[in-house]
Amino acid sequence: MSPSTPQALVVDQLSKHYISSGYTIKPLDQLSFTASPGELAVLLGPSGSGKTTLLSCLGGILEPTSGSIRLGDTEVTTLEGTDLDVYRRTRVGFVFQSFNLVPSLSALENVAVPLLLRGEKRGPAMKAAAELLDRVGLAERAGHAPSQLSGGQQQRVAVARGLVGDPDLLLADEPTANLDHVQAEAVIRLLRELRDDGRVIVVSTHDARLVPVSDRIVKMGTEAGDAEDPPSEVRYLEGETIIRQGDEARLVYVIEDGSVDVVVELADGTEEHRTVLGPGRYFGELGAMMGFPRSATVRASTDVRLTAYNPTEFRERILSKED
Ligand SMILES: Nc1ncnc2c1ncn2[C@@H]1O[C@H](COP(=O)(O)OP(=O)(O)OP(=O)(O)O)[C@@H](O)[C@H]1O
Ligand SMILES: [Mg+2]
Repeated sequence: MSPSTPQALVVDQLSKHYISSGYTIKPLDQLSFTASPGELAVLLGPSGSGKTTLLSCLGGILEPTSGSIRLGDTEVTTLEGTDLDVYRRTRVGFVFQSFNLVPSLSALENVAVPLLLRGEKRGPAMKAAAELLDRVGLAERAGHAPSQLSGGQQQRVAVARGLVGDPDLLLADEPTANLDHVQAEAVIRLLRELRDDGRVIVVSTHDARLVPVSDRIVKMGTEAGDAEDPPSEVRYLEGETIIRQGDEARLVYVIEDGSVDVVVELADGTEEHRTVLGPGRYFGELGAMMGFPRSATVRASTDVRLTAYNPTEFRERILSKED
């Protein structure tokens, strides 16, 4: 099964702000990315970086503060009432970290639930559910209750349930978090196969194993990677912010392909363009090495590929070669 018309997901300048005991928390701050039909996008970021918040906005279960989410021709952020309900039930499939399977129902019935809730007849709903259980490799477990299945099998049932309405957009929140290595591999393989259907899949994770199978990485939080990580390749799309003036600095970036704009935000709220940097140049070294906050904002002026270094490795691998 695959969606009737391929629908791209376009997220533009999306923000979600909460006011909490007098100060503002900004789990999403002007986030933009695009995922084409048939793409698996991975939201990568530490705890609290807004992954679940973003998935909830994409699924129409949380209203963003500002910005736009478009799926095909639909502007999700302006949907209300019945239209919003129809969007949630027919265009989006959800897979939760905790599976959320109904314990008293069989695997087959669990998969059929979204169709039954939509008012579809039991016969066709069960047939569609059986096809999807087969697809996730669990045809012979159709009659089992969730408690009779392993964690990985339960997660595959949850993926099948997410797909049963034939959604244009499949959202999965940390689908491998509760699984052991073998089980996680099976779920990752399944997600990779599913993107060939032409739908958009968005998965949040801490799990680095999902990175190589993804078509697009959306980095959540202020900075990609961790200061303790080995050098890692990171990519940004044209217009995306890589580091933001005033933020805590941890990493140094070397430009491999593409170029970036360095801008300084002035006290009156305007921006001053300082320079453009291209391949072979680096940025962010002063803050990261000296422990200062970022002194400028750096944005991708084209699609750009970078290598992120922690300060120690940057010193050893890059600076030492310059002498
Ligand atoms: N209703 C709310 N009111 C206030 N703050 C909230 C609310 N919901 C979430 N937050 C805050 O927004 C931030 C992002 O939360 P979110 O759950 O999206 O993070 P996450 O990336 O999914 O984290 P994890 O990896 O731990 O699941 C957190 O700082 C959280 O405390
Ligand atoms: Mg979360």
